[in-house]
Amino acid sequence: MKLAPSLLAADLSDLAGAVRKCEESATDFIHWDVMDGHFVPNLTFGAPVIKCARPLTGIPFDVHLMVENPGAYTMELAQAGVQFVSFHIEAEAHAHRLIQQIGSTGMKAGVAINPQTPPSAIEYLLPSLDYVLVMAVNPGFAGQKFIEPCLKKISILRDKRREYGLDYLIEVDGGVSEDNLERIALAGADIVVAGKAFFTADDMKAFTIKVRASSSSRMI
Ligand code: DX5
Ligand code: ZN
Repeated sequence: MKLAPSLLAADLSDLAGAVRKCEESATDFIHWDVMDGHFVPNLTFGAPVIKCARPLTGIPFDVHLMVENPGAYTMELAQAGVQFVSFHIEAEAHAHRLIQQIGSTGMKAGVAINPQTPPSAIEYLLPSLDYVLVMAVNPGFAGQKFIEPCLKKISILRDKRREYGLDYLIEVDGGVSEDNLERIALAGADIVVAGKAFFTADDMKAFTIKVRASSSSRMI
């Protein structure tokens, strides 16, 4: 699997230092949790901050929009140099249109689903998507416990991908730790987000290597 450390769990007074830690571990992505204080009960950063960090690294930026009206944010994110952007299906009535809009900027488009949202809610969007972000915690905060039934949703999305001959990636976000890495990989995830597990690891590089060594069931 690939790794996307979530800056939400880093020391936000030293974002440049956090980006450097990702660089030192050669992570595959850097995950930015953009929150508006409405869709989720927390407030973080937006495109101006992301834009300032862009020159610090060549690692692709993966933005997870936990906001109402996500379409209002995407153009500015493209201009900030973001490569991947996902929005919540629960926050957007016209998801298909927004996916097209994101794609037209050159960014990869993803849809995120909350723990209570079944994969069937996005079934008809799957052919248009570059990736699906499966939330395994209730969005808003880092350091929460992985919600086990979400594992099943990863497998369902992996099976749908095979059934329909699609190639979207499956990203899993929330509560990822050394203890559940292998199970998440076996369920079919391609990318894991890790906040607390990465930024509190004694050896971030070793954690990154461990994620990469966890084999996706795609190869079985
Ligand atoms: C939660 C965020 C996650 C979170 C992950 O709302 O979307 O990206 O920061 O943090 P951990 O890995 O600590 O659960
Ligand atoms: Zn996230």
